[in-house]
Amino acid sequence: MKTVVCPGSFDPITKGHLDIIERAAHLFDHVIVVVLQNPNKTATFRVEERLDFIRRTTDGLENVSVDSYDGLLVDYVQKVGAVAVVKGLRAVTDFEYEFQMSLVNRQLCPAVDTIFLNTAQEYLYLSSSMVRQIASFGGDISQFVPQAILADIQKRLQKGN
Ligand code: PNS
Repeated sequence: MKTVVCPGSFDPITKGHLDIIERAAHLFDHVIVVVLQNPNKTATFRVEERLDFIRRTTDGLENVSVDSYDGLLVDYVQKVGAVAVVKGLRAVTDFEYEFQMSLVNRQLCPAVDTIFLNTAQEYLYLSSSMVRQIASFGGDISQFVPQAILADIQKRLQKGN
């Protein structure tokens, strides 16, 4: 059985993330979506909230499970016995950062490969930070986040909550 790991901050999960998870779930036997810490970012949502959003969003996907880990991605990949990491690539702007991370991860652990899936065209511009910003000013984020968690994200991001 081939397991892959889809890592990220997921702060919060977007339709762009979901697209990558669904496509990974078609390609592999088991996909673990794991919330990790990105030391370069200050998270808006608590880990438990992010996990809840991901669980509700991926509810219908039978071979997808959800987890969090406080440590290095390569350690997690080895712990769960995954064959690779799957990440989405948007525009060229993502490439350098993602390429660097995949190289560092292979340096740390040569067995850990990273597979990049191109983001669907309609989500090329989409990011969690953009969703947070639009929602915090009361804008409509319905086209960017899965319907199942839309109301909760809007409520949580309204100024003052
Ligand atoms: O969604 P993001 O913020 O682009 O995801 C980045 C993430 C969380 C996958 C990355 O920061 C990560 O792997 N964090 C765990 C610590 C780690 O293993 N860092 C890689 C060595 S530089």
